[in-house]
Amino acid sequence: MLEAKCVLRLLFYGLHLAAVAVSGGGGDDEFVYSGFSGANLTLHGAAMVTPSGLLQLTDGAAVSKGHAFHPTPLHLRGGEKEAAAARSFSASFVFGIVPVTPGMGGHSLSLVVAPSRDLSTGTASSYLGFLNTTSNGSARNHIVAVELDTIQSPEFQDIDDNHVGLDVNSLVSVNASSAGYYDDRTGEFRNLTLVSGEAMQAWVDYDGDAARIDVTLAPVGTEKPRKPLVSASADLSSVITDVAYVGFSASTGRLSTRHYVLGCSFAVDEPAPAIDMATAQATLRELQTQVQGGLIAGVVALATVACVLLIVRRRYRYVELREDWEIEFGAHRLSYKVLFHATNGFKNKNLLGTGGFGTVYKGVLPTSGTGVAVKRVTHGCSIGYCRLKDELLLAYDYMPNGSVEQHLYGGGDALNWAQRFQIIKGVASGLLYLHEEWEQVVVHRDVKASNILLDGEMNARLGDFGLARLHDRDAELHTTVIAGTFGYIAPELALTGRASPLTDVFAFDAFLLEVTTGRRPVEEAMDGSSSRLMLVDWVFEHWRNESLLQVVDPRIELGDYDVGELSLALRGGVTLLASTG
Ligand SMILES: *[C@@H]1O[C@H](CO)[C@@H](O)[C@H](O)[C@H]1NC(C)=O
Ligand SMILES: *[C@@H]1O[C@H](CO)[C@@H](O)[C@H](O)[C@H]1NC(C)=O
Ligand SMILES: *[C@@H]1O[C@H](CO)[C@@H](O)[C@H](O)[C@H]1NC(C)=O
Ligand SMILES: *[C@@H]1O[C@H](CO)[C@@H](O)[C@H](O)[C@H]1NC(C)=O
Ligand SMILES: *[C@@H]1O[C@H](CO)[C@@H](O)[C@H](O)[C@H]1NC(C)=O
Repeated sequence: MLEAKCVLRLLFYGLHLAAVAVSGGGGDDEFVYSGFSGANLTLHGAAMVTPSGLLQLTDGAAVSKGHAFHPTPLHLRGGEKEAAAARSFSASFVFGIVPVTPGMGGHSLSLVVAPSRDLSTGTASSYLGFLNTTSNGSARNHIVAVELDTIQSPEFQDIDDNHVGLDVNSLVSVNASSAGYYDDRTGEFRNLTLVSGEAMQAWVDYDGDAARIDVTLAPVGTEKPRKPLVSASADLSSVITDVAYVGFSASTGRLSTRHYVLGCSFAVDEPAPAIDMATAQATLRELQTQVQGGLIAGVVALATVACVLLIVRRRYRYVELREDWEIEFGAHRLSYKVLFHATNGFKNKNLLGTGGFGTVYKGVLPTSGTGVAVKRVTHGCSIGYCRLKDELLLAYDYMPNGSVEQHLYGGGDALNWAQRFQIIKGVASGLLYLHEEWEQVVVHRDVKASNILLDGEMNARLGDFGLARLHDRDAELHTTVIAGTFGYIAPELALTGRASPLTDVFAFDAFLLEVTTGRRPVEEAMDGSSSRLMLVDWVFEHWRNESLLQVVDPRIELGDYDVGELSLALRGGVTLLASTG
């Protein structure tokens, strides 16, 4: 499959581009990582270095933690000052916090200075991975941390769910501020959303003479703002040990999140060396690929069920990434301009619909005259990839016949049995491909009549991969926030939160019954009471009474159907639903 290869290449080129070596800084008390490929870090828990050189501290599992330390100890006391005094030091790091369910992430990523590289006694969630119920508040910790916290924990007097806090031996911060920065030109405060998936840089400066810590934050690529975000008076001489380690701790709670560090640097008695942003940019791209990973894989699958894929982003820096595979496979990229013109400048009259994460416009490609549907992923909406500053547009083949739902319940033409059976087969083969035939298992998670689109020949195509998840074969299924549509959610999904190919099959079974009976999986009772008709129960009842043909959608003409196919669909639906449920 051509498109699938393109996207795989995209991923692989991202990896090669990003392969960056560590440059160990000057003395023992200085280091800089511009990307982590080949870095000799001390890792613990979920922490790992991705092939492209991203330091991934948590992997998207709920209630997990990860630690990573620069392997060699730093001498943070003495120096030219009196032996016991903490020396001035400075650290900087570039990070990205990517929620698994867009807009919903937790818990925190922290820079830590600790007496050892072993934080294994730390607890996940609100203990941020480096303290626990007994150690919180104890002077024996000798830990200084800067927390980038995305959950408000009242037990630690957190100010909000998007703050930067300075912690000394305790999770109750010495001082904290909402995430943001002061613009150098205007002096204005600008908010930043930590859990946006966007890369940001943080600087931590300890002035030993003034006994003061400053933390500064800014969007990646911005100069360090002159005014720090948050400061605290704290003499670290009594806190930091003679030999200390510098590293990161990240933790998640019930909301799963991936915490990444793209680069970091540290120095004693002088400013932290600059992180080479050109190389960190390369890992940044991979981070953004991750943000879009689920989406892209979904589109790959969509491409196989049919379709044209094009990802358009306006900013030039992403263009390089695509060129190699474009040359090899031919361009699938359309310029922003082309799509702008195709949709008459995203005019309202071209609007086809608005979904959970964007608006869809009808358009005609100027050169080929091909009808396309262009999905414009909106800013500030509820899923992760749309938080990219850049515009993301996806163009699909325009589906002139709308969704199956429109034909079953809306104004669309009633479907005859042959059409319905063809749709069932189309969806089944699409799901088979997603579940079994691609390199990774793609779980669609929102199979339902309104997401099954019909092309000009009434062939079904599985659309809307907004909720799709992919995971490696053999990988453990992750627990995620339950997503899907009522009536199509398998009981075990509701119970355990684990979406799997089987939970897609459950939704498909519900769809089978729906297409055959022309009724929704769950219907409100006609008498206005709050009771609901469960389609499966009703069909099952008729099955037991051997009156199964009575459930067939009355709009399917008698004699117009193949009884074999019909009972296959109904039995398939009922037995599978009954056995899964
Ligand atoms: C990695 O760091 C550890 C701890 O400092 C050290 O023992 C080991 O030799 C280092 N390995 C390499 C390949 O540098
Ligand atoms: C908490 O952390 C401290 C310090 O690492 C450790 O000694 C203690 O056993 C931990 N307590 C629990 C309950 O894990
Ligand atoms: C953590 O320690 C601080 C003291 O540093 C204390 O005020 C706070 O109540 C403690 N919180 C918990 C949940 O133990
Ligand atoms: C910044 O965030 C604060 C607190 O969440 C909010 O009150 C304020 O309106 C925000 N400012 C802007 C410019 O978005
Ligand atoms: C907390 O940080 C803010 C911002 O830097 C600063 O204005 C304030 O004085 C600090 N508060 C304390 C108690 O250090």
